[in-house]
Amino acid sequence: MRDFVYYTPTEVVFGRSAENRLPELIKKYGGNKVLIHYGGGSAERSGLLPGIRTALEAAGIAYSELGGVVPNPRLSLVREGISLCRREGVDFILAVGGGSVIDSSKGIAYGLAYDGDIWDFFDGKAAPAAACPVGVVLTIPASGSEMSDSTVLTDDVNGLKRGCNSNYCRPRFAIMNPERTFSLPAYQTACGITDIMMHTMERYFSKERMNITDAIAEALMRSVFNDGKALMKNPEDYALRASMMWAGSLSHNGLTGCGAVSDFGTHRLEHELSTMYGVAHGAGLAALWCHWARYVFQEEPARFRSFAVNVLGREDNYSCDEEVLEDVTSCMRDFYHEIGMPASIPELIGRKATAEEISLMAERCSRGGSFRVGNFKQLGRREMEEIYNLANS
Ligand code: NZQ
Ligand code: ZN
Repeated sequence: MRDFVYYTPTEVVFGRSAENRLPELIKKYGGNKVLIHYGGGSAERSGLLPGIRTALEAAGIAYSELGGVVPNPRLSLVREGISLCRREGVDFILAVGGGSVIDSSKGIAYGLAYDGDIWDFFDGKAAPAAACPVGVVLTIPASGSEMSDSTVLTDDVNGLKRGCNSNYCRPRFAIMNPERTFSLPAYQTACGITDIMMHTMERYFSKERMNITDAIAEALMRSVFNDGKALMKNPEDYALRASMMWAGSLSHNGLTGCGAVSDFGTHRLEHELSTMYGVAHGAGLAALWCHWARYVFQEEPARFRSFAVNVLGREDNYSCDEEVLEDVTSCMRDFYHEIGMPASIPELIGRKATAEEISLMAERCSRGGSFRVGNFKQLGRREMEEIYNLANS
């Protein structure tokens, strides 16, 4: 197993009455002038944003607002947010939404503490050394960004989606009321289920590991696999919504990867699908995973066997490795279909990707052939193209 640091500073306030604590938490973490940052309208329509404005006004907390974050959040809006916050003296960013809003908020927070161009952190020219504090009111369990060290932005001019990791961006608090997720469209719920399970799968398929982490990871994935299917049939079941919301945070705050070496190859490949086709991140992951699994299976068939038995609940009566592979991939394909997700690129975008598109995605993902992704099996440009081609059949 690998040495590790486990650092999860985010204060989580969870449950039906969690939002009542918002003004107190903003003050506790030093907010005097807040930017309320949000997406395309769901938080307004649900009454969440009007309630937040009223609560801040009652507590005497000044605020500015910036809405309009889109899924796969854009660098251009982050730049606009940085200028607005500088102009208005904002010292605290409140993200009201999901991964896209949180990541846009984290981008603004980095920018406020940096004199150079914010994209420097995303193309590796500089490393963050500070960030303005961020708090979260979560409305969709999926990305885990409410506790993660990660920020994923899209340069909408140059068509690049890139991540930046550092502890500075970890939110100070996350308010999670599962009732807020009742209004999610079924497709977004399913994208979330896929992403949550995948964040632990990306850590579980590792050649280095420790027993306690395996036990936690398997329990989390088993629960998301089973509760996810149940949730799609009972979207207003509070206990299932709560289970998914907490799983979303635990799956990406580092807990399920302690001692392991994260892979995140499927994530890297997916970011190119989101950039190329504008698809939802979770759906892109579902379109790729079975094909990634087929490509890397021989690295360690026993790992897939453990996944089949301890996560998917399969009988351990396989007579050969090939049976394990067929069973795991068909079981996961059925799972994705059952919750309404695609399991290939044609199912994702409604047609086959062209050879030129696949070549461009591999080119961008490998940064012109100079960059490899994944750890369970390292993937260079050629391997990336082969996986895209498998997923395209
Ligand atoms: O914009 P609004 O109107 O709010 O609608 C949103 C959006 O269209 C809607 N929605 C959110 N909460 C709702 C709701 N609709 C009804 N009721 C509610 N309660 O859902 C849509 C999707 O929202 P988005 O924030 O885009 O989803 P998600 O949380 O899946 O975030 C996806 C982004 O996170 C990144 C992804 O790459 C993608 O850009 N990721 C961030 C990570 C991180 N920072 O740690 C890790 C992940 O692997 C991921 O890469
Ligand atoms: Zn993800």
